[in-house]
Amino acid sequence: MEISNLRKLILMLLFLSSFQLCKAFGGVVNPLAKLRFDGKNGEFRILQVADMHYGDGKTTPCEDVLPKQMSSCSDLNTTDFIFRMIHAEKPHLIVFTGDNIFGSDATDPVNSMDAAFAPAISSNIPWAAVLGNHDQESTLSREGVMKHIIGMKSTLSQLNPPDVPDIDGFGNYNLEVHGTEGSELTNKSVLNLYFLDSGDYSTVPSIPGYGWIKPSQQFWFQRTSRKLKKTYLHDSNARKAPAPGLAYFHIPLPEYASFDSSNFTGVRQEGISSASINSGFFTTMVESGDVKAAFAGHDHINDFCGKLMDINLCYAGGFGYHAYGKAGWSRRARMVVASLEKTGKGGWGDVKSIKTWKRLDDEHLTTIDTQVLWSKRSAGARRKKPIGHH
Ligand SMILES: *[C@@H]1O[C@H](CO)[C@@H](O)[C@H](O)[C@H]1NC(C)=O
Ligand SMILES: *[C@@H]1O[C@H](CO)[C@@H](O)[C@H](O)[C@H]1NC(C)=O
Ligand SMILES: *[C@@H]1O[C@H](CO)[C@@H](O)[C@H](O)[C@H]1NC(C)=O
Repeated sequence: MEISNLRKLILMLLFLSSFQLCKAFGGVVNPLAKLRFDGKNGEFRILQVADMHYGDGKTTPCEDVLPKQMSSCSDLNTTDFIFRMIHAEKPHLIVFTGDNIFGSDATDPVNSMDAAFAPAISSNIPWAAVLGNHDQESTLSREGVMKHIIGMKSTLSQLNPPDVPDIDGFGNYNLEVHGTEGSELTNKSVLNLYFLDSGDYSTVPSIPGYGWIKPSQQFWFQRTSRKLKKTYLHDSNARKAPAPGLAYFHIPLPEYASFDSSNFTGVRQEGISSASINSGFFTTMVESGDVKAAFAGHDHINDFCGKLMDINLCYAGGFGYHAYGKAGWSRRARMVVASLEKTGKGGWGDVKSIKTWKRLDDEHLTTIDTQVLWSKRSAGARRKKPIGHH
């Protein structure tokens, strides 16, 4: 065979095999595909699942359910709840905010993770996970747990940003959500999602208690936020204001203690179990200016959102049945829906509002505490207010 023909044949074979690969992935989420807003209604829907505390599945009993519920309750109820939420809310992304497995009751952490994330995978929904303080308490280290997660189907989770080799923790990354297909923002990230590892426990002898978001992670966040703002405000189809951002991590920041029932929506039924020192991530977010809300788990029977300095600090409330809770107080999940502005030409522009609510795992998946976290109009109005001189 002539060389040129051989070349053609090889190219053809390569083409065919990539075609086969595409077909093999047909119907399955391509992890390289971009997240983008839905062109039909201009929405992007995020389901937050906090503290599944998954153990061994059907042999792992529930905690804090009513005595009459005990005998029929296991991890499988947690699985069932995820499926019900997916069916009811049709999320575009599921975020698992840590304590996904309860390490000390997971005989094989790989099996536990496979079971815990299975509903997202079998529903072909892209998902992202961060670590809590219990995920590494079986036979895998935090690095090992995160390495397993990033290899799972349909996940967009990442081990760490590739250009920051010395960052603290595992599972620090960001995701871009692009404008609708075919719109002028189709190549731009109109909603930025940040995921951070808030650690497990302090390793500094003089500091007791839980872990915190370290300076190396904050530098990465700051740089990423700055880069995203620059692209949004300057490159092609430049916009006037930065795209809104949302941050997800496990352990609440000390600033979650800034509220009482007069200024939050939801409930606080236990203390705020943040780190015992303040590492400054809240300040870093305020300075960056793009993050409109942060979402934590960790304290299962707190489920409020409160606004401090234009940033909403939210809990999801506990989701998992093998996690402590309060008998008779339903397990729950938090939804966030970002909506795009309609443009004059009948297309979609940038994000107009971000709303949230919770769903209870009761008979009708009751929706509670619907609230607007951010809207473009009120942000614009506030910016125009003159600043007084003192
Ligand atoms: C757990 O699931 C079982 C089987 O579907 C069901 O009968 C039971 O009511 C559920 N328990 C709770 C607390 O939801
Ligand atoms: C988006 O990127 C694609 C591929 O680079 C390009 O063909 C298209 O014109 C771009 N669309 C817009 C609106 O910038
Ligand atoms: C919430 O209200 C309490 C007083 O009831 C006040 O001490 C606190 O500073 C308020 N928090 C915020 C963030 O406004």
